[in-house]
Amino acid sequence: MSWWESAYRSGSVNWDPGEYDRHLPWLLSTFDIAPCRAIDLGCGTGKSAVWLAEHGFDVVGVDLAPTAIRNANELARVRGVSATFVAGEFPGEFTAGRRSSVLGSEPFGLAIERGFLQHFGPGRELDRVLRAVVDLLAPDALFYSLITAREGKRARWGPRLWSESEVRESLGAWFRIRHMELSVFTPDEAGSMPAWLTVMDLG
Ligand SMILES: C[S@@+](CC[C@H](N)C(=O)[O-])C[C@H]1O[C@@H](n2cnc3c(N)ncnc32)[C@H](O)[C@@H]1O
Repeated sequence: MSWWESAYRSGSVNWDPGEYDRHLPWLLSTFDIAPCRAIDLGCGTGKSAVWLAEHGFDVVGVDLAPTAIRNANELARVRGVSATFVAGEFPGEFTAGRRSSVLGSEPFGLAIERGFLQHFGPGRELDRVLRAVVDLLAPDALFYSLITAREGKRARWGPRLWSESEVRESLGAWFRIRHMELSVFTPDEAGSMPAWLTVMDLG
């Protein structure tokens, strides 16, 4: 069983905001993003994906942890929205044949991730993930990322902390960075850890 799955089973998931990522309304309005196919990578319990579905997006959420995916499906059911949640390791389980059968063959107009990319060290491992993200996207798609920052105070739950230059170099190698700012992981939470908010396109 993965470390993530045990965390979701035990309920020890202090990265889970309890609600959708509060940056999303800002993202949609600032970049004028209309409802489209969207994917949430490392979607956890699906709060952000369900929020996007409630706002008209055709959403797929992908996560390694089956318990998180079960919770996400239950949340969609309770909220009365349609969203697709798939358990599996990204990108490994979503390449070639399986990708189109579970993610659909249409490209995505929006990809989001909160606290997912940061677990892949800069370099080849992260490049493999970013290449797979590029392959999922439509030419005019946007990619939103929130990565815990080294700048500012120390994180409480011990993820890898990224400097601005690491984020810029890693993401900028694959995407054009449209916006980058030092925000926090959970805007509504007092003392939330600093995080690099980056919005990108394919250039
Ligand atoms: C810090 S949590 C963030 C979850 C969610 N985005 C949120 O904001 O609550 C990181 C998530 O990435 C998932 N994850 C980690 N590695 C993964 C991989 N290779 N493929 C898919 N999901 C992965 C974990 O199961 C976990 O749910």
